[in-house]
Formats: sequence, structure tokens, C-alpha cells
Amino acid sequence: MPEKEKVTNDLALLQKIDREKLPFHVAIIMDGNGRWARQRGLPRIVGHKKGMDTLKQIVTCAHELGIGVLSLYAFSTENWKRPSLEVDFLMRLPEEYLHKELDRLIEKNIKIMVAGDLSQVPERTRLAIEKALIKTSGNTGMVLNFAVNYGGRSEIVRACKKILSFILEGRYSEEDITEELLARHLYTVNLPDPDLLIRSSGEIRISNFMLWQLAYTELWFTKTLWPDFSREHFLRAILDYQTRERRFGNIQAKAHGKLHIDEEG
Ligand code: FPP
Repeated sequence: MPEKEKVTNDLALLQKIDREKLPFHVAIIMDGNGRWARQRGLPRIVGHKKGMDTLKQIVTCAHELGIGVLSLYAFSTENWKRPSLEVDFLMRLPEEYLHKELDRLIEKNIKIMVAGDLSQVPERTRLAIEKALIKTSGNTGMVLNFAVNYGGRSEIVRACKKILSFILEGRYSEEDITEELLARHLYTVNLPDPDLLIRSSGEIRISNFMLWQLAYTELWFTKTLWPDFSREHFLRAILDYQTRERRFGNIQAKAHGKLHIDEEG
């Protein structure tokens, strides 16, 4: 689609969005980089590189729209199984991104957060992320939460171990163990649960992402591969979210909140 048409399309979608009903926390599984590259006979890492361009575009779009928290699944605990060349490349992306974007993120009052075990990532990646965490720690605008070396199951196990250690120290008793307490020991400690989860590439699963936090999240899937994902898809996901009735287990509203698979793109 020509650039001019794309912008007109985005504007039309933007006008339809109800600013009073924005999802506060949007989480994204950015999937399909490898397939995008393979379809073009290119190495997988070219797909990841293009995927980073999409990421930048969506961060800007979410910030302009007034989204409160944007969580992005950048590297899972299972991704270590990939060939070392690809793992090394993926591990360099946060450093490259932050090197180019950190000043702009600071200007926009964006606060970086990380979900995942940074102790196992290469030192250069860890240091770049830690610098960004420190430099943006006082920011009060959108939270940009990167899931790096993240797995939902290991996050829950880690929380249980932390709680157990407090029990053994006599700081918690059995009655203290509640859902709220467990949530406070997850990486997302101060963040509300995602309102909307977007996954690109046509896979209809959550792949160990935010298992605890997604309990009542609205899900939106598109067949579009992440490098082709655009502002338009993001806006369409939000518009679709705004048609959902969220009942959180209650009975008042009519059932809806259907699983959505976007056929376009
Ligand atoms: C999944 O596609 C994507 C990833 C494992 C990596 C996603 C990372 C980025 C988009 C950039 C991250 C950048 C920063 C700054 C953290 P896949 O490789 O599984 O695709 P496939 O299913 O088609 O093989």
C-alpha cells in the first residue's frame, strides 16, 4: 500500500478509537520473523532485524496513543535452543536498540522495565539494559516492559521459592499466601495485568508468556508476520478490544470476548 494511503488508513482508525476505553496494558508476542525471512530466501536474522523496525514503530504508536504499559516478548527461556548464531544476534538487539533509542525514550518520559532473568544473558546485553533501567527509573510515562530470558512457568516457580524463603525466615505464615502475595513476587510486581494480548504470525497460543498475568486478558491474533505488522494492525487490535465485554468471571454481561483471528494482512 502506498505510504499516503497507509497514513489515511491509520488516521481513519485513530479517529474511531475511544480514548476513554484504551487498554492500559498491552502485551505482544512478536512472532514470525524467521518465516518472514525464509519466505524471501534470507537468513532468519534479517527477519529479526526487520522485526526490530516494527518494534520501534509500535512503541511510538503506543506512546502517541497513551497506552500505559507495553510488554514485548523479546526472548524466551526456550529461545536458547536456537542455533548460537541466531541467539547471539538476538542478544545483541536490546543493546543496539537502546544505543539508538534511549535518548528518545527518555525524552518521551518512557520507563523501561524488564521481566526475566538477566543473570544469564551476555554481560554487554545486561549492562545496556541495566543502564536503561537506571536512566529511565524516574520516568513517569509509558512503561516499556521487555521480556528477556523470560518464561511464565519459571517466573511462577521463582516467586514460590522467594515466598518459601520468607516463610522459612518466619516473615510470612500460611495465611499470608494469597494471589496478591504471589503476584507481588512476579517480575511484573507493580504492573496491572495485561488488558490485551496481541500475537502475530497466525500461531494461536501463548507460549509460556505471562501465564499468571493473562488470566483475564483479551486475546487478539493476526496471521500477519511480525516484520509486516504495522500501526494499522495495532490500531485494529485496539478497536476490536473496545468491542469486547469484559466480565472477569461475573455474569452480568453477555458472553462475548471471542477468540479473534484477523484474516487480513
Ligand atoms: C519470534 O519470531 C521472535 C523472536 C524470538 C524475537 C523477537 C525480537 C524482536 C522482534 C526484536 C527484539 C528487539 C529488542 C530491542 C528487544 P521467530 O523467530 O520465532 O519466527 P518464526 O516463528 O517465523 O521462526
